[in-house]
Amino acid sequence: MISYVVWNENCSVGDPRIDAQHKQIVELINDMYNLVHEGHAHHTLRECLENLRDYTVAHFALEEEVMQRIGFPETDRHRAVHRAMTERVLLMYSEFLPGSELSLEVFEYLKKWWLGHIMSVDMNYAPYIDR
Ligand SMILES: [Fe+2]
Ligand SMILES: [Fe+2]
Repeated sequence: MISYVVWNENCSVGDPRIDAQHKQIVELINDMYNLVHEGHAHHTLRECLENLRDYTVAHFALEEEVMQRIGFPETDRHRAVHRAMTERVLLMYSEFLPGSELSLEVFEYLKKWWLGHIMSVDMNYAPYIDR
């Protein structure tokens, strides 16, 4: 099992539920990466992408609710970033038809996308979280 993306304590935003979801998303990406490596069939990967899509949507909903609750002043801007990411993941799923492959570019993108979002966008609300 290859850990393609690694979540460590530096990635913590200070809310255990949000951290748990971030870890889960990282695991989903790692699972998908390993499935591709092991040469799994298209439908298995499609199921994984479907999970990633659903998990992304659920995660953004929780995060937006938390930002609202803690009175994070840039909630609207953050929400707009989520909308763009949601569009992208919906497209990724709908375009993953039989015969398509998940290339290394897709994984590089997912890795940068998630770690980048956590470290430079999510981290902005971390100081507002009650610990
Ligand atoms: Fe997040
Ligand atoms: Fe976010």
